[in-house]
Amino acid sequence: MQTNYTEAINTLRKEKNAVIMAHYYQIPEIQDIADFVGDSLALAQQAEKTVADVIVLCGVHFMGETAKILNPTRKVLIPDENAGCSLADSCPADEFGEFVKQHPDHTVITYVNTTAAVKALADITVTSTNAKKIIEQLPENEKIIFAPDKNLGDYINSTTGRKMLLWNGACHVHEQFSLEKLLKLKAQYPDAKVIAHPECKKPVLLVADFVGSTQALLNFTSQSSNNLFLVATESGILHQMQKTNPHKKYIPVPPDDSTCVCNECNFMRLNTLEKLYNCLKNETPEIIIDEQIRTKAVKPILRMLEMS
Ligand code: 13P
Ligand code: SF4
Repeated sequence: MQTNYTEAINTLRKEKNAVIMAHYYQIPEIQDIADFVGDSLALAQQAEKTVADVIVLCGVHFMGETAKILNPTRKVLIPDENAGCSLADSCPADEFGEFVKQHPDHTVITYVNTTAAVKALADITVTSTNAKKIIEQLPENEKIIFAPDKNLGDYINSTTGRKMLLWNGACHVHEQFSLEKLLKLKAQYPDAKVIAHPECKKPVLLVADFVGSTQALLNFTSQSSNNLFLVATESGILHQMQKTNPHKKYIPVPPDDSTCVCNECNFMRLNTLEKLYNCLKNETPEIIIDEQIRTKAVKPILRMLEMS
């Protein structure tokens, strides 16, 4: 007999006092069954205040790690342990540690899209929602290393006048939007507002009417009097945009390579309802973090939550 995953997940989450959290880039079925859907910052904030015994983090590995770092005594599960992140992978802890050593007078800020071992080397973590706000709280002459996203770092440098030293990392999803195809769409839909995530490359950001984190993009489409948007970020967010304002139209900006659906994050899309059910049932894959790394990595995350 075929399993009704929605019913089975609902029964298990009650039995196990589990909370299901999902990032906006998850498939619609997972966003719809989750107790909480949000961007990276909101997921970390939610994880900090949860009282559930079990947290199922439907997102990618570093998001599960952030939840575990904040909740060492709770069980943190992820539906697929292969759900990694090209941006986190672009910053290996050993190489980053060397870089930090070479700049001992710099404050180290890492994007939350990093492994626990990289966070353990940081003074403050940030997300795309709070990066500008947090960096602006530091003295103007403070020397700063920003890692790993060079596009977000460059965007913050250009909007704050800072000269942060940038790590050369990027997200393979946000880097591949085609400027040429975006300009064609703009010509075809002159009334559309172009909205883009700051992980996109500079030429895309320069033609955008609004640049912001996943949550900020959702808020913008909601509050704008406009009814048509060209969206340059992972297309999972379109599900919430459509749910929030079904009468508006959202066109995903296509990638350079028209043979792929590269505006979907292949890591985020590894999670399915079946894997979510199995992970709740079997309580695996579980996030386990070395306690020495965890006690170091929790400090920059708590600092971020205080400064947000
Ligand atoms: P935010 O959730 O901070 O918008 O980050 C986007 C992202 O790429 C998450 O993996
Ligand atoms: Fe990582 Fe990019 Fe996927 Fe986000 S969208 S999880 S930054 S690879």
